[in-house]
Amino acid sequence: MKHESLEINSGLLILFTLIAISIGGLAEIIPLYYIDDTVEKVDGVRPYTPLELRGRDIYQREGCYTCHSQMIRPFRDEHLRYGHYSLAAESKYDHPFQWGSKRTGPDLARVGEKYSDAWHVAHLEAPRSVVPESIMPGYPWLLENELDYTSIEKRMRALRMTGVPYALTEEENQANVDKYGPEVAAKLDITRADDSLIEQAIARNYDGDPSRLTEMDALVAYLQMLGTLVDFSKYEQGHFAEFR
Ligand code: HEC
Repeated sequence: MKHESLEINSGLLILFTLIAISIGGLAEIIPLYYIDDTVEKVDGVRPYTPLELRGRDIYQREGCYTCHSQMIRPFRDEHLRYGHYSLAAESKYDHPFQWGSKRTGPDLARVGEKYSDAWHVAHLEAPRSVVPESIMPGYPWLLENELDYTSIEKRMRALRMTGVPYALTEEENQANVDKYGPEVAAKLDITRADDSLIEQAIARNYDGDPSRLTEMDALVAYLQMLGTLVDFSKYEQGHFAEFR
């Protein structure tokens, strides 16, 4: 039989194995050349501020992603519950992205500004104090732990290497000013990361305790920003008009 001759002839077997692998390889590699066209450019999307970035890292450290996804699928029920479906551009500065598929708790892609800061603090400290039927574990140490931000520059430098436009040079900073305006650009400047982190935490005092900078400040800053960058009012009319 033809197949047997393939299996007993190692030269042929290697040749056809290579062909099969290259087809698979091409299917994975070719789309990478078109990535710039595939990921729609969306106004408002920007990299995390230093405080939000620190919060995102705490989100990962605590394993929040084991129960929470951050990707709203384009289905009617998801749209009604969570809002506009997630766009690829919204996670383009997320390394690693937090899409996930495990939803023990609700999707968090658009949780930003849905609740007050005080609600998040109470909920993270003891979820059942605000949602009696909750099975989410408490994270009381976030309020006790001082926020260690000594590594913030290194964290931003690492992301810069993956293509996130955090600025190190004056040219990069100027490019950010042109793209995002001076206020946002100042927060993306690696050389001013410490000041910007402290400034943001003091300005809003996310954890409710103005005397301390805690891990809670960073995590709440991150949660409150999720899904708030893009103005979806113009998209709602288009993509989901048929549901209204
Ligand atoms: C064991 C699973 C589990 C883990 C781990 C977990 N959560 Fe939850 N989370 C839930 C469940 C279940 C709910 C829904 C009940 C409630 O609101 O407490 C929820 C609700 C929430 C909500 C409210 C969402 C909404 O739209 O009402 C937020 C915000 C949240 N979690 C954040 C976090 C963060 C941040 C972490 C990590 C520090 C985390 N969760 C870890 C299960 C989990």
